[in-house]
Amino acid sequence: MRSPFLLALAATSALAVQSSTLFNFTSGIDVENSELRPNGHLLLTTFEKGRLYTLNPYAKVPKAELVASLPGATALCGITTIAYDKYAVIGGVRGSYHYDNETIYTVDFSQDASQPIIQKAAHLPDAIMLNGMAALPKQPHVVLAGDAILGVLFRVDTTTGAHKVAFNNTALVSPSTSSLPIGVNGLKIVGNYVYFTNSAGGTFCKVPVSDDGETFGDVEVIASMDTSIGDWDDFIVASNGVSYLAQPTLGIAQVFPNGSHSIYASGISSASSIQISKDGYAYVTQGSGLVDTFKLPFNTTVAEGEF
Ligand SMILES: *[C@@H]1O[C@H](CO)[C@@H](O)[C@H](O)[C@H]1NC(C)=O
Ligand SMILES: *[C@@H]1O[C@H](CO)[C@@H](O)[C@H](O)[C@H]1NC(C)=O
Ligand SMILES: *[C@@H]1O[C@H](CO)[C@@H](O)[C@H](O)[C@H]1NC(C)=O
Ligand SMILES: *[C@@H]1O[C@H](CO)[C@@H](O)[C@H](O)[C@H]1NC(C)=O
Ligand SMILES: *[C@@H]1O[C@H](CO)[C@@H](O)[C@H](O)[C@H]1NC(C)=O
Repeated sequence: MRSPFLLALAATSALAVQSSTLFNFTSGIDVENSELRPNGHLLLTTFEKGRLYTLNPYAKVPKAELVASLPGATALCGITTIAYDKYAVIGGVRGSYHYDNETIYTVDFSQDASQPIIQKAAHLPDAIMLNGMAALPKQPHVVLAGDAILGVLFRVDTTTGAHKVAFNNTALVSPSTSSLPIGVNGLKIVGNYVYFTNSAGGTFCKVPVSDDGETFGDVEVIASMDTSIGDWDDFIVASNGVSYLAQPTLGIAQVFPNGSHSIYASGISSASSIQISKDGYAYVTQGSGLVDTFKLPFNTTVAEGEF
């Protein structure tokens, strides 16, 4: 079949920015997700023995340092800030498209940055595959976590451990026609909207959410991609309304609010998540064990709340 997409791809690739390597886990471990700390350092979640790492991008020779192996987990996924220098992290025992003992941990650097306090905040035995997670801006100790297999968002109170299914919608599940069982993947909350990607569906969507994370409106599909080319993973929404999405097959895609999209940074294999620093650098984690970086235009900053 003729593919007009490939022509469009060639045209946009020529404009794409070049990234460089910030750090290489030469063991090739899968870096799954990331978050920025107030000091500008990255936190990296991995599929390596439940290990959480920190990485200072401003060091002369940036080097990932082990924070901890989260107890009982073999793999870590979503991570989000829930208070100043305090994070919620998803971990579980990884199987094939199935996790046992899905747990939300808290990792708190605010008391002693060299000795973070690690706690199990919530157990979700009814979850199958938690992936992206974001804190509610008005009550950040409460998080929404997407389950890529169940196709739901869990609402989890990290203080009490209470959790429940808050949103159950077909936009969150893998389409029945897809061989990939992964639905909701990346998840962010900006203003009164939850933004999310659906890997198998090839969609980038938003849905209005109430301040307490209990009530949701209608899902709007912002953009769709051809799933024969790949899928969208985690992402970041910039303050100018442009979103940057990790697209494992091609690099970083840029999506405008009107839904038009293209590859922005190419040559980044197995991109899994992206962060934007205060000084306008993008940091991209990769399933191939690399962390890459490139400069964004102007002074692009992240659209999320600050703690
Ligand atoms: C990362 O390390 C691996 C293993 O040593 C090596 O094969 C690969 O070329 C390195 N990649 C980069 C971009 O440095
Ligand atoms: C899940 O946690 C329970 C309680 O800590 C433990 O007994 C069990 O072995 C864990 N399951 C797996 C698959 O690790
Ligand atoms: C989501 O809704 C569907 C359809 O009503 C239902 O079959 C499914 O059990 C629900 N999932 C969860 C986890 O509540
Ligand atoms: C979408 O927005 C971008 C950025 O403002 C613009 O360049 C593009 O032409 C728009 N596309 C459509 C189809 O309106
Ligand atoms: C950077 O952001 C500031 C504040 O929003 C704005 O005034 C300024 O024009 C921006 N600079 C560039 C180069 O976009």
